[in-house]
Amino acid sequence: MTELHPRKMDFGFEDADVPFLWNPDNPAWSSMSNAVSFLAIGFEKMIVKAIMQAKPQLAASGVADEAMAFMRQEGHHSTAHRQHVKGLIRSYPGLQNTLDAVIGEFDLLTEATSLNYRLAYTADLEATFTPVFKLMLDHDATLFRPGDDRVASLFLWHFVEEVEHRSSALIIFDALVGNELYRMRMAPSIFAHVMKVIRIACAGFNQHVPLKERKVDSLSMFATHRTKQRIVTAFAPYLTKGTMPRAFDGLPLGEQLTALAGVVRSQMPRHKPAHEKLPALAGEWFAKYDEGYDCTRWYTAGTNGRARDAVAAGGK
Ligand SMILES: [Fe+2]
Ligand SMILES: [Fe+2]
Repeated sequence: MTELHPRKMDFGFEDADVPFLWNPDNPAWSSMSNAVSFLAIGFEKMIVKAIMQAKPQLAASGVADEAMAFMRQEGHHSTAHRQHVKGLIRSYPGLQNTLDAVIGEFDLLTEATSLNYRLAYTADLEATFTPVFKLMLDHDATLFRPGDDRVASLFLWHFVEEVEHRSSALIIFDALVGNELYRMRMAPSIFAHVMKVIRIACAGFNQHVPLKERKVDSLSMFATHRTKQRIVTAFAPYLTKGTMPRAFDGLPLGEQLTALAGVVRSQMPRHKPAHEKLPALAGEWFAKYDEGYDCTRWYTAGTNGRARDAVAAGGK
């Protein structure tokens, strides 16, 4: 049995232009989260293929229901992020190459690595999500609320479902592979691959989205790039790719460090995501979804949405 509820969502990205700078208050965050959208398409496609490949083993594992519900959630995420990215590609056609390159990286993993490796990849990366997404969801007032409500609502839905299925990938890995040492040994190559893919997305943004629209150097989330650029622009200012603020500069340092500690903890042996502290917004989101609230327009839908806005604005 599983407690997961796959929810299919349509955020209406075809109805109007999708801005690259979807939260104008925070260009670095807009760029970073757009990169997450690109990554999600390829990563979650890989997950779906891995679970399908594992189906014969799953039948006898006792976790088949969990795996199927997990796969359905990830499939819905991948589909919704495709709609988001399609909207970006309508405005910046060169990003199609970037998307192809990102998906290609994950297709290559499916081709070239063992099922055990891809299950370890999924378990390792998914384990980091709850502490990281808690940091983001705890600061939805600045990261999500001021933005395009379709894009904000896409990420809220995705991140709360990641919190909901935070244990799934480890449960599946433990049932089918059951080798923690292997998972930990693979972690460096797994996270190197994740960073490589994000770098491909960010380099694509720098190449295909004009600086006046993206506002920042999209690669500035990488410390090595920031150092290199500082040296380059000191000698040749015309080579700047934009300013280099970080997405979380406005968030309390203590909470950023808590999230970082959570990421490290998530890779330790016998880690149990079920015991993680959860973002309050996740519980609120599930309750409102069950009441029938339109979660595709989290900040602007109906009376409830307006009531939330009034509360946030101090009841004005
Ligand atoms: Fe997902
Ligand atoms: Fe996930």
